[in-house]
Amino acid sequence: MSDAIIQLVDLHKSFGGQPVLRGVSVELMRGQTTVVLGPSGCGKTVLLKHVIGLLQPDHGRVIFDGQDLTAMGERALCRVRTRFGFLFQGGALFDSMNAVENVMFPLREHHPQQKEHDARARAMECLGLVGLADFAGRMPADLSGGQRKRVALARALTLRPEVLLYDEPTTGLDPIRADVINELIVRMRDELNVTGLVVTHDMASAFKVGDRLIMLHEGQVLADAPADEFRALDEPRVQRFIRGQADDEDLKGLRPGRGQSGGET
Ligand SMILES: Nc1ncnc2c1ncn2[C@@H]1O[C@H](COP(=O)(O)OP(=O)(O)O)[C@@H](O)[C@H]1O
Ligand SMILES: [Mg+2]
Repeated sequence: MSDAIIQLVDLHKSFGGQPVLRGVSVELMRGQTTVVLGPSGCGKTVLLKHVIGLLQPDHGRVIFDGQDLTAMGERALCRVRTRFGFLFQGGALFDSMNAVENVMFPLREHHPQQKEHDARARAMECLGLVGLADFAGRMPADLSGGQRKRVALARALTLRPEVLLYDEPTTGLDPIRADVINELIVRMRDELNVTGLVVTHDMASAFKVGDRLIMLHEGQVLADAPADEFRALDEPRVQRFIRGQADDEDLKGLRPGRGQSGGET
């Protein structure tokens, strides 16, 4: 059995008095992909940022490989972050660099001594892993949305991360291109043995890539189960989310005359 590589313990985080995380505890098992589900604005990106110490919790701890990140200084955190790859929402490539230069960027930053030739070879290897070796010279503007995400994934791979964090990797892609990304996430786990944390509201993606599914609701963990059990959970809010069904609360404003009385949950 695999053990936990990351433990988020009772995380609380508010912004301007508004609670976003209200006691979230999550364990990520080494070599598995964990998916955190929840609607837009529920705190998924905030959760991811805690995992690499880009945000500090108001209360709670983040344990990575036995070390408490919330007790670390910025220098130690920087070192730890090199063990993570982060696929940001939207991909976020540098527009002025072509694909291979984008992928080389973390190498230049973290291994400035490395020879240009070696950095380029590693970057090409990573582009190959996402099936884009033939696109090395393309500028981001000349790539599709799905290809840009794949280049961003290649860039996240350059430092051989143990953990990959994916922030809504399929959002904004058509179903076919989304599935290519899903395939790659599965491959990162199976071929590179990477531990994955995917945050998304895309149920098809969640079931395709996730070993374990966790659903957030109002800043707390509503459900946490292996993928095959998650589908069958006897929790109406989980079932509605899986099926994409709005409830009366979601629809209140749309139904004249029901706005006052239809709000109860
Ligand atoms: N740095 C910040 N300062 C203030 N509010 C923030 C900050 N980051 C996130 N929030 C708020 O926290 C909530 C959750 O945001 P986020 O994690 O981005 O949601 P999502 O689940 O869509 O990724 C939102 O209401 C957002 O406005
Ligand atoms: Mg987000």
